[in-house]
Amino acid sequence: MTGSSRGVGRGLVEALLGEGDYVYGCSRSGQQLIEHERYRHVLLDVANEAAVRTMLNGIVTTHGRLDVVVNNAGVSSSRLGLLTPASDFMNVLEANLVGAFIVMRESIRLMKRTKFGRIINFSSINVPLASIGGASYNASKAALENLCITLSRECASDDITINCVGLSLVGESGMVDALPQEALAAKQQQLIKPALLSVRDVLHAVNFFASPNARNITGQTIYFGGVS
Ligand SMILES: NC(=O)c1ccc[n+]([C@@H]2O[C@H](COP(=O)([O-])OP(=O)(O)OC[C@H]3O[C@@H](n4cnc5c(N)ncnc54)[C@H](OP(=O)(O)O)[C@@H]3O)[C@@H](O)[C@H]2O)c1
Repeated sequence: MTGSSRGVGRGLVEALLGEGDYVYGCSRSGQQLIEHERYRHVLLDVANEAAVRTMLNGIVTTHGRLDVVVNNAGVSSSRLGLLTPASDFMNVLEANLVGAFIVMRESIRLMKRTKFGRIINFSSINVPLASIGGASYNASKAALENLCITLSRECASDDITINCVGLSLVGESGMVDALPQEALAAKQQQLIKPALLSVRDVLHAVNFFASPNARNITGQTIYFGGVS
């Protein structure tokens, strides 16, 4: 689980530990990180290839295999496209797209050894909504969705699937907490199902893609909120 120091990622780790899983998480920084006998946290930037490789290789060395990867780490940026400096755009792409790519590439290499794996990425309803103020963020998630389709083709001969969950608005998460009330309400108005998601709702989608019976579902994005 990348990006597990807070927000959705942290909530998911706590839920997965409750289900009896062994979980590794990471983030660039963190205070009061989860402490559990079946959890290990690594401080790294997902855009750092060597650090990601070391973490994932360590999982396989210790546990013999890597079954499920949830690419949750991400950053947001609320700016009009016309006012977005290229450096800001690059920062968002680096975390949301390049970092997710590195985690996927290194994971697939290890999953190919066992010919099994499930990779689940978090996209956003902001892709189909193309919400104003999210030029870099929306573009990063749209590219991530496309990347999943291409990579899923490269894994076609193995029982490895790569999918995306397009989150709507998750309660008690960093990205929703950062939204002003009016912006949150405006976004909810665009949704058929505007209620805030719980971590349980997100976990349900993750578990669906991770389940053995989802072996023939790959390169897909499921959106919450009723957008398409
Ligand atoms: N919350 C929502 O309603 C919502 C809606 C749509 C999509 N999403 C997606 O869901 C995911 C989680 O959102 P959230 O609201 O839980 O975000 P959040 O509360 O801001 O948490 C983001 C997590 O990712 C980590 N992170 C960020 N950049 C990283 C990097 N380069 N390397 C490693 N770790 C990194 C952060 O820790 P550090 O900063 O210490 O690295 C933190 O643990 C994101 O991908 C987001 O785009 C969320």
